[in-house]
Amino acid sequence: MIGDMGMLIDFHSHILPGIDDGSKNADMSRKMLELEKKSGIGKIVLTPHFYLQEQSVEKFLDNRAGAIEKFAPIAEELGIDVKYGAEVLYTKSLVDEDLTKLCIGDTNYMLIELPYQRLTSGFINEFRSFAGSIFPDIQLILAHAERYLSFTSAESIYEIMNADMLVQLNSGDFKAFSKSAKFMFDLLQRDLAHLLGTDCHNITSRAPDMDVARNAISKKISPHCFSHLMHNAEKVYNGENI
Ligand SMILES: [Fe+2]
Repeated sequence: MIGDMGMLIDFHSHILPGIDDGSKNADMSRKMLELEKKSGIGKIVLTPHFYLQEQSVEKFLDNRAGAIEKFAPIAEELGIDVKYGAEVLYTKSLVDEDLTKLCIGDTNYMLIELPYQRLTSGFINEFRSFAGSIFPDIQLILAHAERYLSFTSAESIYEIMNADMLVQLNSGDFKAFSKSAKFMFDLLQRDLAHLLGTDCHNITSRAPDMDVARNAISKKISPHCFSHLMHNAEKVYNGENI
């Protein structure tokens, strides 16, 4: 099946060494890349956490450049194509920053995560006006839409998704018959989710696990649905619209 659809793409990862709560060093990054490769991943978007409250965009990019220096030769050696971005935590003051610097590679797509709290209607309005004000110069991708379910209602997630943005889901959350898996299948069936990522952080508790999503989606919906998500990923990776 992998052969039929070409290389798979992981759209959310913390494999860059020593920059956030993901990979601790180059050796761990290598092991993570080997696991990615084993599951058929050939392209990866590197998305270390960025918190504007903690550091400036410039400082983050400096740190990231240092991590890339250690990481890039390993990815190249393993034949994995990569693009560098960030997982940007939403905060109001982002609007004053040059967000193009945080976009994925040469695209205008930026991965954004929401604060882990109940999404009030005030917050939803604020976020949607932020998303609208930067669109289409910056196209947002909402990170792991299903993870906010622990803090807020499905309804409020649907509401925030009405902003102009794509939606990414975490592969590992397709495990078992959880509330989040049910929510994600619903999104996929309604064509409201666009991209998959492993959100891997290490080689144990949060290891790369695209197989989980591939198996669950193929079984519960269809193999075509999974290939469709990978087809989307290819386009976004290349900076095209989907
Ligand atoms: Fe993440």
